[in-house]
Amino acid sequence: MGTPGTGTVTEPGPPADLADPLFWRQPAPARAAAFAELRRRPGPVFFGDPTAKGPGRGFHALVRHADVVEASRTPAVFLSGPGVTTPEPARWVRLLFGDSMVNLDDPRHAQLRRIVSKAFTPRLLARAEDDIRRVAGRLVDQVVEQRPTDFVTAVAAELPFQVICNMMGIPEEPRRAILDQVNHASEHTGVARPLRSRIRIPGRGLRALARMQGMVAELGRERRRRPTDDLVSALVTADVDGRRLTGRELGAFFSLLLVAGVETTRNALAHGLHLLTAHPEQRALLLGDLDRHLGGAVDEIVRHSTPIIQFRRTLATDHELGGPGGTLLRAGEKVVLFFGSANRDEAVFTDPDAFDITRSPNPHLGFGGGGPHYCLGAHLARQEMKVLYRELFTRLPEVHSLGEPELIPSNFDHRVRALRFGY
Ligand code: HEM
Repeated sequence: MGTPGTGTVTEPGPPADLADPLFWRQPAPARAAAFAELRRRPGPVFFGDPTAKGPGRGFHALVRHADVVEASRTPAVFLSGPGVTTPEPARWVRLLFGDSMVNLDDPRHAQLRRIVSKAFTPRLLARAEDDIRRVAGRLVDQVVEQRPTDFVTAVAAELPFQVICNMMGIPEEPRRAILDQVNHASEHTGVARPLRSRIRIPGRGLRALARMQGMVAELGRERRRRPTDDLVSALVTADVDGRRLTGRELGAFFSLLLVAGVETTRNALAHGLHLLTAHPEQRALLLGDLDRHLGGAVDEIVRHSTPIIQFRRTLATDHELGGPGGTLLRAGEKVVLFFGSANRDEAVFTDPDAFDITRSPNPHLGFGGGGPHYCLGAHLARQEMKVLYRELFTRLPEVHSLGEPELIPSNFDHRVRALRFGY
């Protein structure tokens, strides 16, 4: 790669292979360097075999901020219906999540999203705020009383899970079994692991998730008969163009909320504690004035850690990326939107690798690149992170991570299995 300003022009060597599972086992700095190199290339690089047919054919890697935004905001061309995860999800994943909005295009996506958005009202979110405070307070009490050592299981995974279950009105009794299944299912989503272990996923996990969906569908039927003020009631009674959520759609939506809303927030919370420990000057700034810096800190944590690494789209028609004369993408081809790379794009962020809670503006794509699939829970996630960190740093000002987070290699999410902590 030629160095800017020196006049040397050298052909770049072959890029790191993003389609190779081994790439995702490399240390973070090596992966970041590979993406930085890809961003310097004139257009998206294709990974895979262009002459092969079928789902294994490969994808164009969208690594720049502008390209990810363009694909996200041109949904008539960049479709979600053919699936959004890479590699292709196992059949059981599609069976359970196939009806959910993340894998739909208009008009069905818009219809479903309107029903669901009607339920996510400011009133519901305001009530959620009180609940988040209660749950966060209880979790910190438990830290003080029980002295746990792993931040992920004690706090980060528990908060978003309890908040979503409370919103949905899920009874206490089955919650533990549900959380185990969510952990199990998401450990195997897009994970760079041998095919053999991917094939072994169904069976118990599938049955438990299916049971959970059945339970939610039953709850939906009950709430339709006797609505209360929970989210399930709002979902099954919200009427958009004469249409409501079916029991099956409700079950699929709950599964989506669990995977999309629990795993992401848990990973963001854990990365955040570690980032604030690794950058004591940023931590001092935050603790010096929580009211002023908490919002900025949360967005910078989401930018810097980017809990969801990538989503895929499939081209409905030919399209020139970047406008006329840009890169020609063909109908039927796939693109992968690399949110993490977009969040380190030097064209948009000054000193992109720095962790800076005062970064402003901070147009990160951690919640997506805009457009119709933009994260439904972005507001809720920010609320949860702000409330938890406020509670934690106010009551345990010495709280810090110990050592590096234990990560699970994945091309889909920046998943933290465990993070030891002290206080
Ligand atoms: C820090 C936490 C979170 C992160 C980083 C995150 C990230 C994302 C991203 C990148 C997308 C895809 C956007 C796109 O394709 O344009 C997404 C979609 C989605 N998120 Fe989140 N999310 C978080 C929390 C939540 C929470 C708490 C909920 C639950 C209420 C949630 C529910 C959803 C749903 C339902 C979708 C699909 C929306 C659609 O397809 O229309 N997320 N999220």
